[in-house]
Amino acid sequence: MGKKIILTGDRPTGKLHLGHYVGSLKNRVKLQDSGLYESYIMIADQQALTDNARDPEKIRNSLIQVALDYLAVGIDPAKSTILVQSQIPELAELTVHYLNIVTVARIGRNPTVKEEIKQKEFGASIPAGFFIYPVSQAADITAFKASLVPVGEDQLPMIEQTREIVRSFNNIYGKEVLVEPEVMVPDSTCARLPGTDGKAKMSKSIGNAIYLSDEPDVVKKKVMSMFTDPNHLRVEDPGQVENNPVFTYLDAFGEDKETINEMKEHYKRGGLGDVKVKRYLNEVLQAELEPIRNRRKEFEKDIPAVYEMLKQGSLKAKEVASKTLKEVREAIGIEYFK
Ligand code: TRP
Repeated sequence: MGKKIILTGDRPTGKLHLGHYVGSLKNRVKLQDSGLYESYIMIADQQALTDNARDPEKIRNSLIQVALDYLAVGIDPAKSTILVQSQIPELAELTVHYLNIVTVARIGRNPTVKEEIKQKEFGASIPAGFFIYPVSQAADITAFKASLVPVGEDQLPMIEQTREIVRSFNNIYGKEVLVEPEVMVPDSTCARLPGTDGKAKMSKSIGNAIYLSDEPDVVKKKVMSMFTDPNHLRVEDPGQVENNPVFTYLDAFGEDKETINEMKEHYKRGGLGDVKVKRYLNEVLQAELEPIRNRRKEFEKDIPAVYEMLKQGSLKAKEVASKTLKEVREAIGIEYFK
């Protein structure tokens, strides 16, 4: 019995932030270090290009930033394979085969794609490549015969659609070529980290994110200006802990649960000021981010080595993907020439 295979990844459209960290990076490092899995972690630059065709430089620059973020949080190339999606053209061919067994209507019903189309304000100009990215994501996952996909909860519809494609493919071609993946989302209630402005999601485009690479003074500034309970005007007023991002972050990152619970009770009663809570949160975040930032700076000293690591990972991944592609072509019956 081989190890269970994991495939996961991120679109490189900027640096990674705390939302990525609690949403999936932490999980990936834990899974990696358990030694029970064979992990592939994909920098999905091709997917990022689906709505950035006119700005490839942004994706190119983000690619190395995301690679550094991965290394900084503890993804270890000796244990996990980090790969670059665009370097594996087999994935594109798999996508083309899967597109034939998916309907436009089904993609149009994918809630994540629907939401993004609205958010990105494409109007009548949705890039076709963007629209079909759930299918290319199915190619990513199935190429490695992954049985586990650790991602943030916004990715659930993608995995659901992948599972459908796998079932259709195996059913149509009468062979168990593809593997149906399971999804793994963080179990904590703070898996979806709100932005520093209290908005539902931390996001680069909204400008409410704390980045893994932010310098200490930047982190502090962002924490001290965080949204809290808008009705907590004076220190002595009773405050609300629910939907108060300062406390959500403390739940997500604080280790000293007793102190945090005491603070919550005090805040609810009244008499505990926002500034004090924020100062404490700042300490907690600085402690979490310092080793990450330091590791990042070490890896930054040798960028060519980071590219070499990505190259080796991509070469290894290409071998695996090309094996699956061959099986897919055989199942369809288009391997004409032996
Ligand atoms: N869709 C993911 C994101 O938005 C990136 C991604 C591409 C991915 N291919 C994947 C995630 C395969 C998990 C598995 O960041």
